[in-house]
Amino acid sequence: MYAAFRSIGAYVPTKILSNADLEVMVDTTDEWITKRTGIKERHIADENETTSDMGAKAAELAIERSGLDKNQIDMLICATISPDYFCMPSTATILATKLGLNKVTAFDISAACTGFVYALSIAKAFIESGMKKNILIVGAEKLSAITDYSDRGTCILFGDGAGAALISATENKAEAIIDIHTGSDGAYADLLMTPNGGSGSVHDELDREKAGCFMKMKGNETFKVAVRTLTNDVIEILEQNSISSSAIKHFVPHQANYRIIKAVGDALNLADEQVVLTVAKYGNTSGASIPMAINDIYESGRLQEGDLMLLDAFGGGLTWGSALVPFAGKTL
Ligand SMILES: CC(C)(COP(=O)(O)OP(=O)(O)OC[C@H]1O[C@@H](n2cnc3c(N)ncnc32)[C@H](O)[C@@H]1OP(=O)(O)O)[C@@H](O)C(=O)NCCC(=O)NCCS
Repeated sequence: MYAAFRSIGAYVPTKILSNADLEVMVDTTDEWITKRTGIKERHIADENETTSDMGAKAAELAIERSGLDKNQIDMLICATISPDYFCMPSTATILATKLGLNKVTAFDISAACTGFVYALSIAKAFIESGMKKNILIVGAEKLSAITDYSDRGTCILFGDGAGAALISATENKAEAIIDIHTGSDGAYADLLMTPNGGSGSVHDELDREKAGCFMKMKGNETFKVAVRTLTNDVIEILEQNSISSSAIKHFVPHQANYRIIKAVGDALNLADEQVVLTVAKYGNTSGASIPMAINDIYESGRLQEGDLMLLDAFGGGLTWGSALVPFAGKTL
């Protein structure tokens, strides 16, 4: 049995936070943000809108577009670093109930911006082992809830949103997800973290900023490790599968920073039309960014049945991953 990437869906909150808005909030400029990151705006969830609310909307679309009866879904994995509740219940179980999926295996995974690629690899393994048949994977983030809007080094980067995909068993090898690489290096844990609130720290502060619940990032060091790791990773997965970069129809990288994407794309000699870019309008939505980007090319009619996608992500942990995925769904 093989695992096929059957459908995609996404949800983007309506409220927009532009670079001009941020100019009023912190000491920055539209010019600086655009030049250093490629981001022009990001979408921000309503105060009462949760990660699972956004994930459910993305998932409903993915289920509808798969043509599958939702009762046949037997597992739900949610990739998020901004769960509805800090420790429990998982966002996946809340999502399952919102979607009317009864008694499915449901759990969250924590791999930051690489979360969707990690979830995809878990789905592939469960399907290939024969344990599950139809797995809904969701990347959903309300990063605005863990962003410090007085820290110009991070608040210009992050946005909210969700994406979802249905991964199903198939006997047709031509439809199969070809390969997925995932890795991590906890030696770099301090480059990008929420320093407090877990068992690794003690605090009795109620103030979220003081309590260290907001993201902290060593941006410049993260940038360098990201370019190096991602470049090596995509070259390796292509070489190991004897696939040339010209065979990639859509390179769908995690949308953290235009300069990182450009550096990796150039290392692979990719033409502009092969590279999917949404960073300008959504910013960095962590685990949601890759499915949101896939949804963009799907809804714009660029993603056709059989197209080969190269996914590529990097995030806190540090974690990274890449995947060679033919689109096995119906063209919109
Ligand atoms: C965050 C990031 C955009 C910063 O860009 P950079 O080119 O590395 O910039 P630096 O951090 O070296 O800072 C350069 C200068 O700009 C300043 N600066 C930082 N943020 C700023 C902002 N929003 N507006 C204006 N100036 C800013 C810094 O204070 C520094 O000033 P100094 O030279 O006087 O000390 C970039 O490092 C990045 O994208 N990193 C990786 C992000 C990422 O991939 N995240 C995790 C994976 S998901």
